[in-house]
Amino acid sequence: MNTAFAKKIQLTGLALAVLGASLLSGCRVEREPNYEWLPWLNHMMFSSAAETNTVNTIFKNKMTNQVPPAGTIPRGFTPLHYTADDAGRVAAGEQLVNPEKPTPETLARGKVVFTTFCTPCHGTLGAGDGPVSKRGMPGFPIGAAENNAGKWPDGYLFHIVTYGRGVMPSYASQIKQEDRWKAILYLRTLQQSAKPATTP
Ligand code: HEC
Repeated sequence: MNTAFAKKIQLTGLALAVLGASLLSGCRVEREPNYEWLPWLNHMMFSSAAETNTVNTIFKNKMTNQVPPAGTIPRGFTPLHYTADDAGRVAAGEQLVNPEKPTPETLARGKVVFTTFCTPCHGTLGAGDGPVSKRGMPGFPIGAAENNAGKWPDGYLFHIVTYGRGVMPSYASQIKQEDRWKAILYLRTLQQSAKPATTP
């Protein structure tokens, strides 16, 4: 047989095989699964997903929801180990450094957080004249400039926002850590602008 002819046959065969395979691979009945080639490996095709909060035989304690290993923390979350008292506030003031730097973006976010969560009591400018304090919330008046916050480090203020103080509640569950720090940056700008008017 001449070689050119053999080559032609080989090529035609190859082309037919490719065509056949592509046609076959398109063979499927709508709304039905494709043909299972390896039925003994079915567990790989149809893995049984465990429902949350169910009993499960895979784990030793037969629970689907596993307890996270000791020391696990959610991503982006810094655990705090301070007590909710004066000692805790002082320690936080000494040890915690504001991870956020004042930039137009962080200050803009800080303003949103402060306006949303702090102004009801502390007022738009932190002057202690929010609608809640005006109605006689105990603990007021404390303004932005004449109060103690200007003397305290950021970590100390972070502790107040995180754990609350006196009648001020904790905002740990409403404001994420990053935003608490940004609100403090914004508070600093309020103190700066309030200073000339109130300090002798
Ligand atoms: C429900 C009202 C209320 C809200 C909302 C509130 N605070 Fe306060 N805040 C208080 C009261 C009351 C005090 C005084 C607490 C005390 O008696 O120790 C206080 C005290 C403070 C102090 C200490 C001031 C000083 O000189 O002693 C800081 C700082 C502070 N708040 C920051 C914030 C920030 C930041 C927010 C927003 C995340 C916020 N607060 C939201 C009521 C509130």
